Amino acid sequence: MKILVTGGAGFIGSHIVERLVREGHEVKAYDNLSSGKRENLAAVASDVELVEADVRDAPQLDFYAAGCDVIFHEAAVVSVPYSVEHPQETHDVNIQGTLNVLHAAKRRGVKRVVFACSAAIYGDDPEMPKRETMRPQPMSPYGIEKLTSEYYLSVWSQLYGVETVSLRYFNVFGERQDPGSPYSGVISIFVDRALRGAGVTLFGDGGQTRDFVYVGNVVDANVRAATTPGVAGRAYNVGCGDKTTLLQLLDTIERIVGSKVERTHAPPRAGDIRESIADISKIRAELGYTPAVGVEEGLRRLIAHIKERR
Ligand code: UD1
Repeated sequence: MKILVTGGAGFIGSHIVERLVREGHEVKAYDNLSSGKRENLAAVASDVELVEADVRDAPQLDFYAAGCDVIFHEAAVVSVPYSVEHPQETHDVNIQGTLNVLHAAKRRGVKRVVFACSAAIYGDDPEMPKRETMRPQPMSPYGIEKLTSEYYLSVWSQLYGVETVSLRYFNVFGERQDPGSPYSGVISIFVDRALRGAGVTLFGDGGQTRDFVYVGNVVDANVRAATTPGVAGRAYNVGCGDKTTLLQLLDTIERIVGSKVERTHAPPRAGDIRESIADISKIRAELGYTPAVGVEEGLRRLIAHIKERR
């Protein structure tokens, strides 16, 4: 198949690109390199075209969507606190960018669009685990943007026949997640600091829970979402179905790294949800997904990878 991956040089996007290239597909990675990196695609550099462009650039997207069978739309500003501070910018990238992708898909006859949605759309509904049938209650601009995008996908499926599938990622972690900014994912920051012997900051008491999911599982969910027939317009949780508090996460990291990590507490972050755990029965039943790599095994792989590179 001919495939376009927006955000293809980013953390999750580059893992999707690698898998697709290995399966023999013709893949273009579309990325403005704002957080993505050329070296993320080093392992497949000779087999993939990297298009340096922005999802806010509708004509470019339209041009590169031509002839594609599938688009994986991973490009986004991914940080909840960044969206709280810069809601107009994240609106433009996360909502207008998605609309541009969908418009290009419709115009160019792309059969299917698979979208990187988020557990952030659920907000703080106390009911656990989060099921796809629950009423979304986003608590941040980011959550609104992912939910709005998902609604666009569903309507595009109904109105224009573009087959769309929305994957509500829980907290994805793994190799190539960049720890370099205060907006980075918590595992990338904690692992990086633990390996450098530095302390970490916990926003709040550390009792907040997340359903951490290894990136390899997320790639698998994406491939299934792109190839399973009869699922157009649907949305699926992608997690492990296990909850971990930040304190438990740190205990596990300390055990694997073999040293203690100093912990400092700071006030909770605005827009943060407290509890998050996925019910993954729908994606198991309909897409045959299973979280093959658990959190501890994923952490072991990530830590081994970083040690090897240093
Ligand atoms: C994450 C993803 C988001 C995804 C969502 C799905 C990132 C940057 N964000 O958001 O794209 O859609 O999951 O659930 O990948 N924390 C600390 N100390 C730190 C950093 C974070 O205590 O140094 C805390 C945060 O306050 C939060 C938790 O760790 O309570 C998780 O934060 P973060 O990794 O930024 O993820 P989410 O906001 O859950």
